[in-house]
Amino acid sequence: MKVFVCLLSALALCQAAYDYTTVQKNSLLLYDAHRSGSLPADQKVTWRKDSALNDRGQNGQDLTGGYYDAGDFVKFGFPLARTATVLAWGLVDDPAGYASAGALDDGRKAVKSATDYFLKAHTAATELYGQVGEGDLDHAFWGRPEDMTMWRPAYKIDASNPGSDLAGETAAALAAASIVFKALDPSYSNDLLTHAKQLFDFANNYRGKYSDSITDASSFYTSCDYRDELVWAAAWLYRATNDSTYLNTAESLHNQFGLQHWNGGFTWDAKVSGVQLLLAKLTNKQEYKDAIKSYVDYLINAQKKTPKGLLYIDVWGTLRHAANAAFVVLQAADLGISAVSYRQFAKKQIDYALGDGGRSLVVGFGNNPPVHPHHASSSCPEAPAVCDWSTYSSPVPNFHVLRGALVGGPDMNDTTCDTRSDYTSNEVACDYNAGFQSALAPLSARGV
Ligand SMILES: *[C@@H]1O[C@H](CO)[C@@H](O)[C@H](O)[C@H]1NC(C)=O
Ligand SMILES: *[C@@H]1O[C@H](CO)[C@@H](O)[C@H](O)[C@H]1NC(C)=O
Repeated sequence: MKVFVCLLSALALCQAAYDYTTVQKNSLLLYDAHRSGSLPADQKVTWRKDSALNDRGQNGQDLTGGYYDAGDFVKFGFPLARTATVLAWGLVDDPAGYASAGALDDGRKAVKSATDYFLKAHTAATELYGQVGEGDLDHAFWGRPEDMTMWRPAYKIDASNPGSDLAGETAAALAAASIVFKALDPSYSNDLLTHAKQLFDFANNYRGKYSDSITDASSFYTSCDYRDELVWAAAWLYRATNDSTYLNTAESLHNQFGLQHWNGGFTWDAKVSGVQLLLAKLTNKQEYKDAIKSYVDYLINAQKKTPKGLLYIDVWGTLRHAANAAFVVLQAADLGISAVSYRQFAKKQIDYALGDGGRSLVVGFGNNPPVHPHHASSSCPEAPAVCDWSTYSSPVPNFHVLRGALVGGPDMNDTTCDTRSDYTSNEVACDYNAGFQSALAPLSARGV
């Protein structure tokens, strides 16, 4: 799917161009493949079947649905909420980019499987389930989610065991999604907003880090700070309601917490650059634009990069960090900050994953893509064939093609390794595809 676009100039510059539209559609299939619970009739990834139908809260509440996190089958609420917020953000800001790719309907469904689950998980005004499945028990199993029998306890936050980051990010996700569904399904949209407001109050009135309350999550997704999510939630609630109380809250918390002095970042844990982008957009104030410009200029000029130019932010999942950064940079360009050079930089990051790094790093796409992603369910042959740790250890490619999944990515020297056991560079995750997905819509619709 690679063509060469040649600019007629004295130097006859040739640039690789990728079929972003196809990638944008394929990337949504990752969410289809990760669905938990009872699958919808229009499920596209048909090798997946119903699973985890007994996920229950501590009082028997129905917690089926949502998404499995990564190569495993735990439902981790914190990175999932961030995934939903970022997917909804892309749909809110770029419906034309989705529509031109024919991906609007699938994009909305990807958000809705998450938000339907959050509505179930929010079992009382100050009670939210933030994890189903125990990390170590889950990770001791390799097989199909349809076959798993391990204990899947459910963990929650409440007034005595709070989690402002988890409740705040979930509020942000529901508020952002309420905008996605506002015209299409007003009653669902209102429902999302009601829960978002309650969750924000819960987050703000009972402060603490969710990973101190849901301690099983602390081995996998420890939160560094809950304050960025509080501001984030208030900013999304303002965008969803136009109620200036939320804007006042967002801006005063931003100043009170000194977010202007924090390092930039936009990941499952760090929301500070997302906050500043959103506040810049909603208020048009220079201070927020300056904060974003400073972060993006740092990324472009000073952040460590691989020899081939990929942002190197962390050894774990280099590509999702680069994709998150690309999304931030594209948003900054849309605010009118150095639009041309910023878009070129973002495109370069995404193009690396699509093949410019030397091979495609998106499953089922382009040149020499990964065929051994660290992903249990796609590694398994069709039931009833055995699927276990011998499947994991076997050199054969994953039985099913997990089309559209962005793998972790290269090391600092651009070295990739298509090995199933390498969860640092060859795992996939709902969160990995989220920034990537939302960066693709503006690239496919408007180019650079
Ligand atoms: C908020 O106000 C803007 C500008 O007037 C408008 O476009 C938007 O639809 C409003 N949103 C809501 C949720 O009322
Ligand atoms: C990357 O290359 C440098 C220089 O050759 C080497 O010192 C370093 O160990 C390499 N890093 C990895 C992760 O392989």
